Amino acid sequence: MRTIGVGLIGTGFMGKCHALAWTGVHAVFDDMPIVRRVMLSEVEEGLARRKADEFGFEAATDDWRALIADPGVEVVSITTPNALHAQMAIAALEAGKHVWCEKPMAPSLADSERMAAAARACGRVAVLGYNYTQSPAIRFIGKLIEDDAIGLLTHFRLEMDEDFMADSEAPFSWRSQASSGYGALDDFAVHPMSLITTLLGAPAEVFGEMSKPYPNRPDGGGRREVETFDIATALLRMADGASGTVQVSRAAWGRKGRLQLQLFGAHGAIVFDQERFNEVGLFVADGPEDTRGFKQLLMGPSHPPYDRFISAPGHQMGFNDLKIIEAHELLNRILGRPALTVDFEAGLAIERTIHAIARSSQEGRWVKVG
Ligand SMILES: NC(=O)c1ccc[n+]([C@@H]2O[C@H](COP(=O)([O-])OP(=O)(O)OC[C@H]3O[C@@H](n4cnc5c(N)ncnc54)[C@H](O)[C@@H]3O)[C@@H](O)[C@H]2O)c1
Repeated sequence: MRTIGVGLIGTGFMGKCHALAWTGVHAVFDDMPIVRRVMLSEVEEGLARRKADEFGFEAATDDWRALIADPGVEVVSITTPNALHAQMAIAALEAGKHVWCEKPMAPSLADSERMAAAARACGRVAVLGYNYTQSPAIRFIGKLIEDDAIGLLTHFRLEMDEDFMADSEAPFSWRSQASSGYGALDDFAVHPMSLITTLLGAPAEVFGEMSKPYPNRPDGGGRREVETFDIATALLRMADGASGTVQVSRAAWGRKGRLQLQLFGAHGAIVFDQERFNEVGLFVADGPEDTRGFKQLLMGPSHPPYDRFISAPGHQMGFNDLKIIEAHELLNRILGRPALTVDFEAGLAIERTIHAIARSSQEGRWVKVG
């Protein structure tokens, strides 16, 4: 069977998720080429070597350009901080490699546009790490909408909350630097936006608000001014008249990985929360009033691609499985098969919405998404 060579840049939180995805994709989806983990790259040679041994990569380097230049590397996973995505993705595409880049595309819209242009010009596959669009539950919700299970969509609410920056004493990191983007908007709101664009379409107009819970954070021996906004809210108007909200916070105590979605239609509602992502709630306004209520549907082998992971219902999937599905869809796309991906073109549309929300927040008015 054909093999495909991959390279991984960055081995932090998401780097490990990509490494696990590349390790597992062939075992889960037997229609895939065998993945050769050719090389990984980190900021420092010793760390790169240690991670290569842990993750099962053949070679290690502290020079990401050497990884891109390696002829054995056909696909490049980019899991570095946001500010580095554009230069790495564009260099990889120009070298003729396929790219799997973590979200968001880039802090500036100009860089996101350059990334999409590079993908267009080289004709290689370039996709973004929008894992939540890949879950069996989200695919099932898409099918419910397609089957008109709740009627015409009138309103939606999406919230994404975590608490890793809820403590005012959480250390200053690249996420607090303006070079990473606006803050919760690029870090979190892009995820709800990926679900909205996948399930419902693109917003036409937005109104945004961003805030900082803490003005500074510990850095070394002292404190450093926080340059990004850890909380953001947006009102959205869709072209078809539906309205919605997106609320995100990296400082929401008690919330660990909450990505809640509520969709309201003319005769029903759908609810979902990533913290319990094997369940979908469905309400249909039908039958006698005294027995109406939300049905809690447990995802299982009849909700693809759950069945590829385990044949037994009730055994549950986890976050890293979503990255395996993402890797599978990326490989499908490389092989010219039908694939569910958020590519650089679709990612650029998300970035345009994010920048429109930020502009609205700065100017205090509704902004059309260009
Ligand atoms: N899809 C998701 O659900 C999700 C979740 C978390 C993070 N992310 C995204 O993943 C990216 C990384 O986030 P993270 O949480 O893994 O950050 P992290 O800080 O844990 O990891 C980043 C890694 O990149 C390495 N790195 C930095 N510069 C490098 C360089 N020049 N060459 C090689 N390696 C370099 C760092 O040493 C670090 O190990 C971000 O863009 C973030 O938005 C996506």
